[in-house]
Amino acid sequence: MTATTGTAGTPAGIAEPQVAEDRYARFYAAQARSGTLRRIYREAYGEDYPEEIDPFGFVTRADLARVGELVGLAPGGTLVDLGCGRGGPGLLVAREHRARLVGVDVVPVAVADAARRSRELGRAGARFVVGSFTGTGLPAASADAVMSIDALWMVQDKPAALAEVHRILVPGGRFVLTTWEPEHVDHRALLTEAGFELEVREETPDWLARQRAVYAGITAAAGELAEELGAEGAEVILTEAQQAPRVLAGTPRLLLAARRRRP
Ligand SMILES: C[S@@+](CC[C@H](N)C(=O)[O-])C[C@H]1O[C@@H](n2cnc3c(N)ncnc32)[C@H](O)[C@@H]1O
Repeated sequence: MTATTGTAGTPAGIAEPQVAEDRYARFYAAQARSGTLRRIYREAYGEDYPEEIDPFGFVTRADLARVGELVGLAPGGTLVDLGCGRGGPGLLVAREHRARLVGVDVVPVAVADAARRSRELGRAGARFVVGSFTGTGLPAASADAVMSIDALWMVQDKPAALAEVHRILVPGGRFVLTTWEPEHVDHRALLTEAGFELEVREETPDWLARQRAVYAGITAAAGELAEELGAEGAEVILTEAQQAPRVLAGTPRLLLAARRRRP
């Protein structure tokens, strides 16, 4: 879900380049079973929690509305969601724009669940594929817009990831994302170097208090979470919940929108 330290891969895990990019596989296999995790987010976010899409990360209704506003898609355009997880955020933004959706994630169980949920949510035309930020397998200039929620922080080779976003995006198309920015990562410089112009850089509303509240809720409910998710499924979020709060204040959660420069 987000940034922590050490093995759990977060602000210091963001600072920790050896985080396994597929480390959420066991969690994803069980997420749908955890009413406790949904309760924790509901209590921390109130009405801003988009419970119906069961996201994994810290996305809010306000974030999704802002992403929707910034992607700049015409109806029927193609939206690619990188690090889509179980698909919810991309499905919601695509529905709003009547866009075609392609979701990409490194975890096969999440991609399979996203395809199943897209049928449940009435988006049978959406497509989900196993792939990486650094190698999506999608054709060049095939996306009218690219979005990504709380995923880029996990990617070890960010220049390669941004080069891939640039390749799949049409010239003039937008890349809109949320991620965390530790001191040693300069997204503006990375995006500029990759051929983008950064147009929006803002902290997401109230992110720190909410994230702390979620971590406190996870720690307090360790027993129930282990029961619902299984010990291995729960481990990754319990570790993050213990480690992330120490480094969170210096690792803002940002919403960024960048335009692919025209040749
Ligand atoms: C915190 S989750 C967010 C999932 C989803 N965007 C959401 O908000 O519900 C981060 C996602 O990034 C994916 N991820 C990590 N490294 C990746 C990579 N190199 N390429 C594609 N996806 C990656 C993870 O598997 C995970 O699904």
